Amino acid sequence: MVIKNLMVTGGCGFIGSNFIRYLLKGEDFSGRIINADKLTYAGNPDNLKGIKENYPERYVFERADICDFARMEEIFSDYKIDTICHFAAESHVDRSIKRPDTFINTNIIGTFNLLELARAAPDNFSLFHHISTDEVYGSLGKTGSFVETTPYKPNSPYSASKASSDHLVRAYNRTYGLPTTISNCSNNYGPYQFPEKLIPLVILNAVNREKLPVYGDGRNIRDWLYVEDHCDAIWTIMKSGRRGETYNIGGDMEMENIAIVEMICDILDEMPHLKGSSSRRDLITFVEDRPGHDRRYAIDFSKLRKEFNWVPRESFNSGIQKTVSWYLENKEWVKRVINKEYQSWIGEQYG
Ligand code: NAD
Ligand code: TYD
Repeated sequence: MVIKNLMVTGGCGFIGSNFIRYLLKGEDFSGRIINADKLTYAGNPDNLKGIKENYPERYVFERADICDFARMEEIFSDYKIDTICHFAAESHVDRSIKRPDTFINTNIIGTFNLLELARAAPDNFSLFHHISTDEVYGSLGKTGSFVETTPYKPNSPYSASKASSDHLVRAYNRTYGLPTTISNCSNNYGPYQFPEKLIPLVILNAVNREKLPVYGDGRNIRDWLYVEDHCDAIWTIMKSGRRGETYNIGGDMEMENIAIVEMICDILDEMPHLKGSSSRRDLITFVEDRPGHDRRYAIDFSKLRKEFNWVPRESFNSGIQKTVSWYLENKEWVKRVINKEYQSWIGEQYG
């Protein structure tokens, strides 16, 4: 597959921006990236600082809403898009509980618009890769893990909207023969993640010795994956995945939330310049549980492992150290992200 004009939607978000860096730095992609992003509260041009200057011929940014069909159609034809990697979404479960409407619009209608454009594209259209989540499968008990054939049982407006978009992608493959692949990945962490999500929120609060909100009893389990490993898996699937198939991506790294929060506290406490008289663990505050809070996620990615030999490279120990260091070193980025809108969300959420 030779990709000439790859549309990345949501490329100014956490995973999308890491993916654009990954592809442009890599050796086996020589095409052009057209990043279409609406720049919602979660989209941040700073996440791609220097990219336009370093890759003037190979990177274009278009501020655009995937719900705006006419605008997306224009971009499609102007840049002769032949491949899509679709990240753009409303991505935060807590926000979907408070205000589900944008999740329905962006995640479902937006995906539908892109599928319609891909369906109408010339014959050289090579792939619609859809980025999704393990949350579509619902919640696990103490044992077992999600495989690609696990029935969908989403529990939040976020996961229900992602499930809906996954179904549309599958239907466009089966009905119209659109070349598609879908990846369902577990929780990501790493540089450039917006600090509404557990790991960056806890890092920043712990640095500033603010309270560390842990939902419920803190024993909910997520299966964590370093963002660069996710990017590597996506690219593997785009290059070699069988069309019409779904692939699970995970890190084999199940952790209770409380263990992660304690680990971050200990990493910071051990840094000579951040040492204090008390342990940051004292800041841990158990707060009211999230409604519909899924207890456990665990991903079985043996399909990806068997077909392409793919395994994650980063261990959680090294990945979390790198992530903490990144947030400490990128003070300007942090300062810009912690703006009024962010403060108002945090105030509304945690009081
Ligand atoms: P994010 O919230 O950091 O970024 C989302 C990006 O999409 C932002 O740049 C935002 O401006 C853009 N966007 C939102 N609505 C848009 C619209 N209507 N039109 C155009 N652009 C729009 O999200 P993320 O964490 O990087 O997640 C990216 C994708 O990966 C999502 O589809 C998400 O469901 C999926 N995913 C995320 C995780 C995770 O742990 N973060 C895990 C598995 C899958
Ligand atoms: P989050 O990062 O929001 O990802 P997701 O809900 O998509 O899994 O949350 C990860 C876990 O951490 C989840 O079980 C909810 C929990 N959590 C807290 O305990 N406190 C917090 O402040 C946040 C944001 C999340």
